[in-house]
Amino acid sequence: MKIRKVVLPVAGVGTRFLPATKVVPKELLPIADKPVIQYLVEEAVLSGIEEIIFVISKGKELIKDHFSHHPELEALLKSRGKEYLLDKVNPIHKMANFKYVYQDEPLGDGHAVLMAEKEVGDEPFVVLFGDDIVKNDVPATKQLIEKFTGESILAVERVPKDKISMYGVIKPINQDGKLYEVGELIEKPSAEEAPSDLGIIGKYVCPPEIFDAIKQSKSSKDGELRLIDGFMKLMESQKVWAVEIDGERFDTGNPAGLAAASIAYLQ
Ligand code: UTP
Repeated sequence: MKIRKVVLPVAGVGTRFLPATKVVPKELLPIADKPVIQYLVEEAVLSGIEEIIFVISKGKELIKDHFSHHPELEALLKSRGKEYLLDKVNPIHKMANFKYVYQDEPLGDGHAVLMAEKEVGDEPFVVLFGDDIVKNDVPATKQLIEKFTGESILAVERVPKDKISMYGVIKPINQDGKLYEVGELIEKPSAEEAPSDLGIIGKYVCPPEIFDAIKQSKSSKDGELRLIDGFMKLMESQKVWAVEIDGERFDTGNPAGLAAASIAYLQ
């Protein structure tokens, strides 16, 4: 079945980027000359996605503005003889069909995905978290979709031992090239307890059953409902797969990661 929709939960608070994110959504901070979120939308569109469902919060409407038509800006560029810049601002609203839903409180990334249930309907979809940018000729979302046969797929990367405790980690039970069957998911294990060095990054293919699985899973200690807990629940009834993604991955949700991404994209 073709995957047509992507959910982009961007209603988080962005605490790692304060004070920059006091007013400006972290997703609008730039990598070189483009906001982080535009890289993700382009990744999705280049992977064949037709509909982008943003989960936003109050105050993040600037994201909607960014993906809207700006006739005044176009007129200004034309009147100043800067037509050569039109391509940078013009086609963005035509890239895909954009939808917006609200998460009223930041109750976790899984809760944010639930807010998109009606818009997604009864079909598989992709979730892209707002932070994870992968620089590669074949977009990361395409690498995931190519392996889709009806069950969940998580994007993973190899993580050095001293950083593994910051990731959700998979225990692979079968391997076919870069595709793994997942036996278990362990959230932030110590280096000694980690069942592999394959850490989950924020890109997922979800069957529609993920919504019920999230609803059935419990909030974590900090009160947040997480997507990863939904996958743990779903594993009780369906297989879950992981794909090791080709490319250089940047966590742009923190200042050092965003700076590294900017340097890589400017080269
Ligand atoms: P993160 O944990 O990376 O984002 O969530 P955050 O909470 O904004 O950042 P910090 O940790 O406070 O710095 C992963 C993704 O899920 C979204 C975020 O916007 C991000 O894209 N998210 C998270 C929501 O949409 N709602 C939430 O309640 C939590």
